[in-house]
Amino acid sequence: MFEHLQPLPQDPILSMFAGYTADTHPHKLDLGIGVYKDEQGCTPIMRAVKEAESRLLTTEQSKSYTAPAGSAVYNQLASALVFGPDHPALRDQRIVSAQTPGGCGALRMAAEFIHGCSQESRVWVSMPTWANHIPLLAGAGLEIAEYPYYDYTTKGIQFEAMLQALEQASAGDFILLHGCCHNPSGADLNQEQWLAVADLMTCKGLIPFVDMAYQGLGNGLDQDAFGVRLLAERFPEMLVATSCSKNFGLYRERTGTLFIVANCSADAQTAGSQLFSKIRSHYSMPPAHGAAIVETILSDTGLTTSWECELASMRERIQGLRQQLVAAIEASGIDGDFTFIQHQSGMFSFLGITPKQVEQLRQDYSIYMINSSRMNIAGLNQGSMDYFVSALAEVLSAR
Ligand code: LMR
Repeated sequence: MFEHLQPLPQDPILSMFAGYTADTHPHKLDLGIGVYKDEQGCTPIMRAVKEAESRLLTTEQSKSYTAPAGSAVYNQLASALVFGPDHPALRDQRIVSAQTPGGCGALRMAAEFIHGCSQESRVWVSMPTWANHIPLLAGAGLEIAEYPYYDYTTKGIQFEAMLQALEQASAGDFILLHGCCHNPSGADLNQEQWLAVADLMTCKGLIPFVDMAYQGLGNGLDQDAFGVRLLAERFPEMLVATSCSKNFGLYRERTGTLFIVANCSADAQTAGSQLFSKIRSHYSMPPAHGAAIVETILSDTGLTTSWECELASMRERIQGLRQQLVAAIEASGIDGDFTFIQHQSGMFSFLGITPKQVEQLRQDYSIYMINSSRMNIAGLNQGSMDYFVSALAEVLSAR
């Protein structure tokens, strides 16, 4: 049977990362995969995470099974982080949540849940969107439609085109929106735009589905959750997938959450029973360690403060790198306006160079970014900035 199988291409982000890892160039630079890096080029374990792990080592009593929804305490703390502790939807018990294996687990279980609601369900995703969104959602049998989002010419959101496309959506369609730090473009909706999207979706009977994988890495924990919180107030039903990979640095611990917001508490319970049954038949229950770390941090005021401070310094470092990069490009004499980079948010921006130029950066300088020219700004540091900008100048001058 297996001899008939055809090899499949690797995911572009993961294959790029594998190429970088194998590269032996002394100045190799990873601006590909979306992980935070510090000034030394390391992806650190956050201080609060280390402390929580050390506490868990002594306090953890058992490794027995939990439940398909994971830890109830984690779910409650994660809900308060995402929606804010006093959100009306939480107060009215309209939200049911499940700890999931990372943001991918949350997205896939959201897709399975949607497919269980109706096999005809359609999800609209932004053009472009994160490379794994379509595989995760279509893999569950959902129909995918696309709405225009990033304009490669103006380097901003094509908001009118986005609204016009969403006008074509049918009642009951799900609209996948990036809560903050749009991946891959870094171009986020502003508050006015969130309100306009919410108005249109209300008129058309569309259902919000928000992926928020970078809360706290854009403008702040509360600021980044503006869209999610707004939609959860205004819509009777919605889905939210979140991740602790980036804001807690728990990447390989696979820690995320799926929230289902329902019309009333009874509907939330029923939706939860459907979701937990799906989880049971997919992976039974989520891994515990990452969620136990988050739970330990968020239940302790001192650890929460330490985590928030370190997260703020990561965010400020990325914002600083954005400004330094624009200044260094300007100082190098490279032609063109790159100021859009400092107005975007989170780890990513499209540099706006061609796939051939991306390839040249990789081949000649061991600088890795995605072929679309999505670069992870957080992969730069003081030591690599000049190397990167001179390589870019060389590659662009060969146009
Ligand atoms: C990314 O976009 O690079 C990250 O979210 C990592 C991944 O799994 O793709």
